[in-house]
Amino acid sequence: MTTDLDALIKDLDLPAKISLLSGADTWSLPPLPEIGLDRLVMSDGPIGVRGEGWSQADPSIALPSPTALAATWDLDLARQVGRLLAQEARRKGVHVLLAPTINLHRSPLGGRHFECYSEDVHLTGEVGAAYVEGVQEGGVATTPKHFVANDFETERYTVSVQVSDKVLREVYLRPFERVVRAGAWGLMTAYNSVNGTTMSEHSELVNGVLKDEWGFDGYVVSDWNAVRTTEPSAFGGTDVAMPGPKTPWGDKLAEAVRAGRVPESVIDDKVRRILRLAQRTGALRSHSPAAEPPQAINGVALAREVATRSFTLLTNNGVLPLPAGTGSVAVIGSAAAEARIMGGGSAVVFPERTVSPLEGLREYGGAQVRYALGTDPNPRLNPLKAPATGEFVDAGGTVLAAEELERATGLWISGLPEGADTAELHRVRLRVRFVPEVSGEHLLSVQGIGPFSLTVDGETVYEGVVELEGDDPAAVLVAPPERRVAVPMTAGVPYELVISNVAHDYGGRRVVVFSLGHADPRPDEDALIAEAAGLAAASEVAVVVAGTTMAVESEGFDRKDLRLPGRQDELISAVARANPRTVVVVNSGSPVEMPWVDEVAAVLLVWFPGQEAGAALAEVLYGEAEPGGRLPTTWPVKLADCPVADVTPVDGAVPYDEGVYIGYRAWARHDVAPAFWFGHGLGYTTWSYDAIEAEGRRVAVTVTNTGARRGREVVQVYTGEGADRVLAGFGVVEAEPGQSVRAELELAERAFQVWADGWRTVEGTHRIEAGGGYDDPALSTSIRL
Ligand code: BGC
Repeated sequence: MTTDLDALIKDLDLPAKISLLSGADTWSLPPLPEIGLDRLVMSDGPIGVRGEGWSQADPSIALPSPTALAATWDLDLARQVGRLLAQEARRKGVHVLLAPTINLHRSPLGGRHFECYSEDVHLTGEVGAAYVEGVQEGGVATTPKHFVANDFETERYTVSVQVSDKVLREVYLRPFERVVRAGAWGLMTAYNSVNGTTMSEHSELVNGVLKDEWGFDGYVVSDWNAVRTTEPSAFGGTDVAMPGPKTPWGDKLAEAVRAGRVPESVIDDKVRRILRLAQRTGALRSHSPAAEPPQAINGVALAREVATRSFTLLTNNGVLPLPAGTGSVAVIGSAAAEARIMGGGSAVVFPERTVSPLEGLREYGGAQVRYALGTDPNPRLNPLKAPATGEFVDAGGTVLAAEELERATGLWISGLPEGADTAELHRVRLRVRFVPEVSGEHLLSVQGIGPFSLTVDGETVYEGVVELEGDDPAAVLVAPPERRVAVPMTAGVPYELVISNVAHDYGGRRVVVFSLGHADPRPDEDALIAEAAGLAAASEVAVVVAGTTMAVESEGFDRKDLRLPGRQDELISAVARANPRTVVVVNSGSPVEMPWVDEVAAVLLVWFPGQEAGAALAEVLYGEAEPGGRLPTTWPVKLADCPVADVTPVDGAVPYDEGVYIGYRAWARHDVAPAFWFGHGLGYTTWSYDAIEAEGRRVAVTVTNTGARRGREVVQVYTGEGADRVLAGFGVVEAEPGQSVRAELELAERAFQVWADGWRTVEGTHRIEAGGGYDDPALSTSIRL
């Protein structure tokens, strides 16, 4: 449907136009009823749609982390994920999903590594494009982010990435080019600078490359608070400054237009892009196509399917799948009882339910399942798992508003409940009824900043002011400080716990972020490890779930090392000594060192598996589902081996000196081998690679399932030599035992091109190899271009 957007623009005066260019609040653009424009609402992804509320009161489906989605290598599945997210967005009145994140795995230390897809440009671009298409099919916009070179977090607001034109084109811009050509309706610019110019002012890349060269007709939104100037950012190609209401645009930009310093045509172009976005997403009422009724997709089932399909089996001596008659399973590890289902930061959503590995295995039934903690690597206690009432009270103790919560975390980031946001608000308290299951010294904690009090049955057990550590205000969300107290409690007796804190100011808004932490009485860690090993020895199989914590993988900071935090390595070795049938389940969004890899019977990566974590795990361990994942990133033995790792700016800059050689391309010219190459992953069956035929960029690969059960294989095709060998195409096939199937692929044109002031196809003969991983060139042929 075409609408004369220019006619609408003519009806708007300058203040109305300018008002559209800044957030009305944290997540929306203001409505303009005079032209039938609704409020345009944006929300974070990428694993769900958080919606405008940032709280448990507004739950959403939580899918596995983007690394997990990429590990499926399945574009149909990525498209289906997009469709589900569109359904979620519409349910929540969201027009624009702030996703997908298509920065690259340049260094495994990158704090948002879990939120990006891959080290490979082709896989990233293809998964990103399928996701974008799926979401937008549902009439919801996407904003691939963060344009561009936002591949680490340290000094992210100010750092300048120094990178050549060729490297930008061939590596960091390439996935963006792919999703833009797939039709993305939006795009988010990054916080960082590229070659000295901050991305929200980077006219050369935003106006020049994105809008002019690639023909992007969508809208460009800044990252949150990234617009820091008036005119340079207005000229830089950014169309919308978020969040609002206070941005450096508004009156100052109107004044610059009136004074003739910014042509009104620059403003009109931004307005046109926003109206086009509104039209596409149904927010421009009389001018938008009628919305198709959303297809009903079962989010819980899809979350589980993506999880099983993403789980990546790195090693297996035959212990998996577990036989149906397995009598007893020892389930070990803090992440077994409380898996990390997602990474930290703006990617956080609040699912209605989560299934821990322990719950998943117990619910699956069959074997006797017993649990041991082993060690607790968490820097903070987990929030008490008991229903709580959040109460907003004035100085006289009158309750202004109340909300029921699933557990003892008070989190109101995007607005307080109705009735609470008044000058009278004095304190926010959580009232929790808690019945301990064991007697002894329970650990309780306050987590957050500001004045706290904690009472147990009316008696004060903690009172004090907790200060923020460091100077990053986002730390209260991603790394809150904690104060602990030990309180004797008796099993079976109900206690009333009340924690109280105050709302604080964050960027002009009042936010509440605090938790009541809890841990059952426990012996010291040596005894815990010994107890876990004892349980493993007394069980047929031991499953250790080990992973990173919220202090390790999150937006806002980079990792310092790749070690499993705390004493988890020691725990795994102790359990493996006690039981040779030990399966290690690695619960992390990105690579960790595994010094015990040869001591255990199997290693299964589950990434950040989303809300259905444990249900999916039980299906895969028992072989009801095959672990379908293949590594989207090369896995090092240790950090010191990594050819590209450094993310610490020197004098405000990070030079991408390695050029195009990141990921497997860096490992290929390195003198140390990784633990597992890109593309690696075992299923529960085996495959033979039988034949390859190629005709131009069309390739057909015939594979046969040589195992005893139905399975799925990710056929990968690479081209080039040495460190210039790259993934050119891939496809997922399924076959019954003994069955042969053909994977038909179209290889990416860009895989045969280099950038030299324009794309040039490298003419001549190209070697083409197909196999089940980067290091498995099972078949080869050549093509001439
Ligand atoms: C993140 C973005 C996110 C935005 C809004 C920023 O800090 O970098 O990815 O979309 O916040 O939450």
